[in-house]
Amino acid sequence: MSNPTKPVKWVVENPNEKGVFWPSEELKRKAWVTDEKIYEKAAGDPIAFWEERAAEGLEWYKRWDEPYRWEPPYIKWFIGGKLNACYNAVDRHVKAGKGDKKAIIWVPEPPNEEARVLTYDDLYREVNRFANVLKSLGVKRGDRVGIYLPLIPEVQIALLACARIGAPHSVVFSAFSSDSLHIRLEDAEAKVLITSDGYYRRGKVVDLKASADEGIKNTKVEKVVIVKRAGNGVKMVDGRDYWWHELIEKAETFCEPEEMDAEEPLFYLYTSGTTGKPKGVIHTAGGYLTQAYWTTRWVFDIHDDDIFWCTSDIGWITGHSYACYGPLLNCATMLVYEGAPDYPAPDRWWDIIEKYGVTILYTAPTAIRMFVKLGDEWPKKHDLSSLRLLGTVGEPIDKEAWMWYFNVIGGGRCPITDTWWQTETGGTLIMSLPGIGPFIPSIAGRSFPGTRHEVVNEEGKILQEGNSGYLVQLPPFAPGMFRGLYKADEKYRETYWNRYQNRFYFTSDGARKMPYNGIRATGRVDDVMKVAGHRLSTAELEDALNRHEAVTESAIVAKPHEIKGETPVAYVILKEGFQPSDELTKALVKHVDKTMGPIARPERIIFANELPKTRSGKIMRRILKALVMNEPIGNTMTLLNPESVEELKQRVGYKGPD
Ligand code: WT7
Repeated sequence: MSNPTKPVKWVVENPNEKGVFWPSEELKRKAWVTDEKIYEKAAGDPIAFWEERAAEGLEWYKRWDEPYRWEPPYIKWFIGGKLNACYNAVDRHVKAGKGDKKAIIWVPEPPNEEARVLTYDDLYREVNRFANVLKSLGVKRGDRVGIYLPLIPEVQIALLACARIGAPHSVVFSAFSSDSLHIRLEDAEAKVLITSDGYYRRGKVVDLKASADEGIKNTKVEKVVIVKRAGNGVKMVDGRDYWWHELIEKAETFCEPEEMDAEEPLFYLYTSGTTGKPKGVIHTAGGYLTQAYWTTRWVFDIHDDDIFWCTSDIGWITGHSYACYGPLLNCATMLVYEGAPDYPAPDRWWDIIEKYGVTILYTAPTAIRMFVKLGDEWPKKHDLSSLRLLGTVGEPIDKEAWMWYFNVIGGGRCPITDTWWQTETGGTLIMSLPGIGPFIPSIAGRSFPGTRHEVVNEEGKILQEGNSGYLVQLPPFAPGMFRGLYKADEKYRETYWNRYQNRFYFTSDGARKMPYNGIRATGRVDDVMKVAGHRLSTAELEDALNRHEAVTESAIVAKPHEIKGETPVAYVILKEGFQPSDELTKALVKHVDKTMGPIARPERIIFANELPKTRSGKIMRRILKALVMNEPIGNTMTLLNPESVEELKQRVGYKGPD
């Protein structure tokens, strides 16, 4: 590698306020958005602002008749408009003569395996062929296609091929268990599943096909397409299973993109909520793509020569929006890495950044905290001067991790954009724009132009700077917002809209209003945890534990964790005839792995005879949490069973506050 050129100073610190950073003149000269007036202008007429964005960012077969309609609680944008996501992400760049540009640089996990580069021409060819494959398997417009793939280029090809023929995709994270796959495929009623023979994780082959076989039992899946990735000897079922590479060979090279209605679903993505069952979040083409395009462009300030790396798996919304649609709509070059961040050594990421000249890195606080722990020597071994912008997402980032990211990875020159958003919002919504700033550790920033978020109290009163409350979005709601929950309309109203009688969208997050119009998102206020950035429902985990033959009742609490942010701790009551033991603990952990996947694995299982309950029979989670955290327990006399707390103190090893 060549010597680093003198690093450009992109960011300057406010001389009056330590820890408040602003874009330098140099950065401002190059950034897409630098004038703060954009906020005011967009706020003056948000609907017109988004109309302009939709028209400028995307190519439409037909312009919409009506820009926005709010029929509480249903959001619609660009009604009557017609477009195709795949055409916008691929065809139009090829038509514009940019076919030679690199679309995807794919880095496999095994360090000695060559990277694979797909230009927009390559992507065009592959997507067209695979779209025809899907059609030949009987997939029609509106049919759901399940995708259960590791991070290989076939992921983006598969998503785009689905979008091309108007078949909504429903991606299931490849580290999810067969049971989790099953629940999602069953709910989405997918006809076809795309998976692989396996994938590499820390040098070992994970047998994904085995989970897929198990997961599709008793679902509507009729055909399975298998990508050969790991050379794993898998069993193929005649008439059901097909190799991707064999089907592709026979496929026609052009497939006409479907002219999709702006409000037709582009995809379903399942996420965890407050009940046991995951919710199918619905995103539609017109609004979602508009937001994906513009947030990628403005939030990450993406330019023609950038190499953008969003480290998220495709199983999460971050992967959908910033490791597929957003960058490709912008004709950008993105890097995709298949494997573990610390394989074969803890400097794998930094090695990749140096080798491929990554300019923009978008990752999660949990990863940053892990690298902090591993020590500065790993990034210090590498020339990271190609980086010019850093992003973070998924959970609140603490000052220490922020400063480390800023100094050690960003060399003190890269702005950090801390982006707040959710699966439901489709695209980033609260952040500091790189050319405007300011960048302040632990403050996400302000609402993206054309959107408005506030911190409100229980009654819905908007709070001023310095106050904490609930984070809400105000109308007109952002175009990228979800359009509902698949087959769960009541849940949709109840979870997001009833609390403020359709006046606001309720995010389920706590927040604090900060200086510079900033918002600090402080974490979930419902029974959802963020474990290593992954969204996990305590109810879903309890349901999983309760399904084990030895368990009658369980309760999960979130315990703060140095690297993961939070981690689940389980209280378990056993059925008659079962005794607490190390074997049973192991069996329960294994059961969770199997039913949900290792990300849900409880850090600790505490066996109990009884759980503290209110007189109305509700489990007192506050007490369960205080116990594992050695915090004051408070008054227990109003409980139905105060003596249960004494027993639990013993079991937990409660020392009390010091
Ligand atoms: C929840 C949504 C959005 C992509 C990944 C997560 C938390 C997200 C931030 C941030 C503080 C954040 C919230 C939110 N969250 N970004 N920058 N600062 N908290 O999507 O899995 O749907 O989770 O993640 O609690 O509600 P998700």
